[in-house]
Amino acid sequence: MADLDSRQGHRYDSPEILAYLNDLHASHDGPQGAGLATAFAAHGLHGFPAIQVGMSEGKLLTLLLRLAGAKKVVEFGTLAGYSAIRLAQALPSDGRLWTLELEEKHAEVARKNLLAAGLSDRVEVLVGPALEALPALESEAPFDAVFLDADKGRYDLYARWAALNLRQGGLLLVDNAYFFGELLDQVPDALAVRRCHEEAAQAFDTVCIPTPDGLLLGIKK
Ligand SMILES: C[S@@+](CC[C@H](N)C(=O)[O-])C[C@H]1O[C@@H](n2cnc3c(N)ncnc32)[C@H](O)[C@@H]1O
Repeated sequence: MADLDSRQGHRYDSPEILAYLNDLHASHDGPQGAGLATAFAAHGLHGFPAIQVGMSEGKLLTLLLRLAGAKKVVEFGTLAGYSAIRLAQALPSDGRLWTLELEEKHAEVARKNLLAAGLSDRVEVLVGPALEALPALESEAPFDAVFLDADKGRYDLYARWAALNLRQGGLLLVDNAYFFGELLDQVPDALAVRRCHEEAAQAFDTVCIPTPDGLLLGIKK
C-alpha cells in the first residue's frame, strides 16, 4: 500500500525506526563484523568523509548479489571498504571483486578492513582513476555485477562500460541515483547521471529503488 504523500516522496522512517531496522536486519554481527565496523567508522578513525553506503543499503547489495549468484564483480569507489565487504560477503570462495579507488590512503585502509573481515583473498583493490583501470579489467569480463559509487560526472561512461562488460542477466547497481537531490539540475555532473539513467534504461531492465539517495538497479537484457 502507498498513499498520495508517499507517492510524492514523503517517507515514514525516522532515526529511531532506521536504527531499529539496521540493528535487526543489517547489523555488523557475525564473522565479518570487525571489518564492517571499522570500515563503517572510518570517518572517526581516519577522518575519511562519511560517504559510505548505509547499513541497510550495504546489506541490500549483499542480498542482490546472492540472488544473482554473482561470482565476478566490479566496484567503482572503495573508500574504506564498507560496501566492498558487503559485496564480497555474497561471493563464493572462488569469487572475485575488483574495487577501484583513486586515493592510496583509502585503498590502504580498505585492504586492512577487508583483511579483518577475512575477505581479502577474494578482493583486489586497484588504485588510480577508475577509467585507467578499465581496459585491463576487460580481460576478466563478462562480469556478474557492477556497482557504481564514485566520480558521478562519469557515471554515463561507467554505465556504458558496464553494459558492454556484464553478462546477460548481470546486475548494474548505481548509488546516488537522485544525485543528492540535484538529478534534474542543468549542471554537467547531473547531466552525466541522467545520461546514465537513460542509457541504462535501454540496455537493462531497470528500476530506481527509493533508498535515501536512490539506487538504480538494472538487469542486463
Ligand atoms: C562514495 S565513496 C565510496 C564509498 C564506498 N563504495 C562504500 O560505500 O563503502 C567514493 C570513493 O571513490 C573514490 N573516487 C573518486 N573519484 C574516483 C575515480 N575517478 N576513480 C576511482 N575512485 C574514485 C573516492 O576517493 C572515494 O573513496
